[in-house]
Amino acid sequence: MTAASAAHPHERPLDTPADWWRQATVYQIYPRSFADANGDGIGDLRGIISRVPYLASLGIDAVWLSPFYPSALADGGYDVADYRDVDPRIGTLDEFDEMVAALHAEDIRVVVDIVPNHSSDQHEWFQAALAAGPGSPERARYIFRDGKGPGGGEPPTDWESLFGGPAWTRVPDGQWYLHLFAPEQPDFDWSNHEVRADFLHTLRFWADRGVDGFRVDVAHALTKDLTEPLPSKAQLEAIARGGDHPIWDRDEVHEIYAEWRKVFDSYSPPRTAVAEAWVERHRRPRYASPEGLGQAFEFDLLTAEFEAQAFREVVDDSLELAGISGSSSTWVLSNHDVVRHATRYGLPPLDKPVGSTESEDKQGRAWILAGAPEEALDRDLGLRRARAATLFELALPGSAYLYQGEELGLHEVGDLPDEARQDPTYFRSPGVDKGRDGCRVPLPWTTTGSSFGFGDDGAHLPQPEWFGASSVEAQDGDPASTLSLYREALRLRRSLQSAERLEWLEEFTRGDVLAFARPNGWVCVTNFGDEPAALPDGEVLLSSAPLDGDRLPGAATAWLRAS
Ligand code: NOJ
Ligand code: CA
Repeated sequence: MTAASAAHPHERPLDTPADWWRQATVYQIYPRSFADANGDGIGDLRGIISRVPYLASLGIDAVWLSPFYPSALADGGYDVADYRDVDPRIGTLDEFDEMVAALHAEDIRVVVDIVPNHSSDQHEWFQAALAAGPGSPERARYIFRDGKGPGGGEPPTDWESLFGGPAWTRVPDGQWYLHLFAPEQPDFDWSNHEVRADFLHTLRFWADRGVDGFRVDVAHALTKDLTEPLPSKAQLEAIARGGDHPIWDRDEVHEIYAEWRKVFDSYSPPRTAVAEAWVERHRRPRYASPEGLGQAFEFDLLTAEFEAQAFREVVDDSLELAGISGSSSTWVLSNHDVVRHATRYGLPPLDKPVGSTESEDKQGRAWILAGAPEEALDRDLGLRRARAATLFELALPGSAYLYQGEELGLHEVGDLPDEARQDPTYFRSPGVDKGRDGCRVPLPWTTTGSSFGFGDDGAHLPQPEWFGASSVEAQDGDPASTLSLYREALRLRRSLQSAERLEWLEEFTRGDVLAFARPNGWVCVTNFGDEPAALPDGEVLLSSAPLDGDRLPGAATAWLRAS
C-alpha cells in the first residue's frame, strides 16, 4: 500500500504481479469521444464509468486514457493547461477516483497520458513567462530566443513545426518561442530544474491516486541542444538521429527517464510506462529498458502494408529488440493519430515517400491516407483484412494496444465536413492533410437515436449514418460480428497465453501465408493473399472469416490448438 492510498479511500490497489504489463491488452480511450453522460456532446468520466461493464465484457487488462486534463483543445487535449486536474467539461478529480475504483473492481488497470514536451499556452507557467518578460526565470522554463534580422523580426531559425508552419511564434515584446507542434503548444526547456521537479510531482500525483501506468507523449524530444548558432532547417534535417541530433532522440533524455523510474519503482506494484518515441529501430530499446520507461511503442506493424513478408520482418525485428531491451513487444494497429486500420487496408498502397527520414515517412503514410477519396476504398476488403490482422496481432508474444472502436470494425470517417474539423494538422497544412479527426468521431453505442447512444444530444464531431450499423447494439450477441470476434479472441488469449516466444511453422509459412506457434501449442495462421491455404493439424479455435472447407480463405486468420 502506498501512503497515499489512505488519502484516496476509493482506490483499491490491484493485487497484481509486477509484470502484469508484459502481455497485457491495453484499450485506448479517447475520452472526449467515448461516452457522454451529461449530453453536452463531449465524452466524460461519468460516461466511462457507465461503460465499465462494457470494458469488462471485452476482456482487456488495462485502459489508457488520452489526455483529460484542462485544455483549450488546440490539439485534442495534448495541449495541457494543468497536469494535475481534470477538464471540467470531462469531470472532476473525485470522478476520476471513482472511475479508477470502478475499473480496478473489474481488474482493469488505468494508464494515463503524460505530455512532457510541451504545455498549453494557457498553462499558468506560460502565462507567467509572457508576463515576466525576456531574461526572467519564468521564461527559462520554455524556449525563448531573440529573432534575427532588423529588429529581431525574423524567427531565430527557419524550422517548421510538425503540424506545418513555422516552429517559432513571436510574442508582443518581440521574443520568439519554440513549438515543435502547434503555436498553442510551447516546448518546455528540460534543462530547467523546475520543469523536471514539476513532472516528478505530476507522476506522483497520479500514481498516488491509483494510476497503474503512464503513456509518455513524444518521449524522444524532451532534451534539446540549442546552443548558438542554431542550424538551419536543411542542416537540422541532415544531422543523423543517433544520440546527438539537436532535437530528436538525444542520449541525455534517458537521464530524465532514469529519474522517473525511481518514482515508478517507489510504488508497489511499480508503476509502468510506455514511450511514444518515433526513433530509428536500434535506438528503441533505450526507451524500453527496465532502467528507463520500461516499454516503447512499436509502430512498425501499424505502418506495414498488409503483406506476409512485411509482417514477418516486423515480428522478427520486434522480438529481437525485446530481447535487447528486456522488455516485451508492443503491438499497435490503430490509435488516435492514424487512419483506422480497417480503412488503411482497404486503400491502395502509397507509392511515394512522404517524409524526409524513414521514420517520418512511415508516420506520414499512416496520416496522409486520411485524405484518400472514398472511391478508392474497398470497405469490405479493409475490414476483412483488419480482422485478420487483429487476430495475428493478438496471438503475438507481448502486449497489444487497441484503440476504441476497432472492436467494432469501425472505418475512418473520411468525409467529415471541413467546418467540423478540429485537428490542427488540417488547419496548418492548410487543408492538404485532412488530419486525424476521422478516427476520433464519437463511438456509436446504439443503432439509432441521437448521436447513436454516445450521449443525449449530439456529438462534438458529426457521426455518419453508417455508424448505426456498426454500433455496439447492432453487434452485441451476433457471433459473426467484429465485436464478438474481439471478445472471443481476448477470452481465448487469456487462456492460451504463454512464454514470450514464437516459432515460425516453416512448412506452412509460404508465399502469402504466415504460420507460427506459441510454446504451449497455440497456433496462428494468417493468409494475406487471395487463394485458400492449407491449415496445420489441430482444433480450430477461432477464425476471422468462415473457413473454406478445411482451408483458410484469403485475408483471414485462424487460431488452432496443435494436435
Ligand atoms: C503525439 C500524440 O499522440 C498526438 O495526438 C499529439 O498531437 C502529439 N503527440 C503532440 O502532443
Ligand atoms: Ca459530457
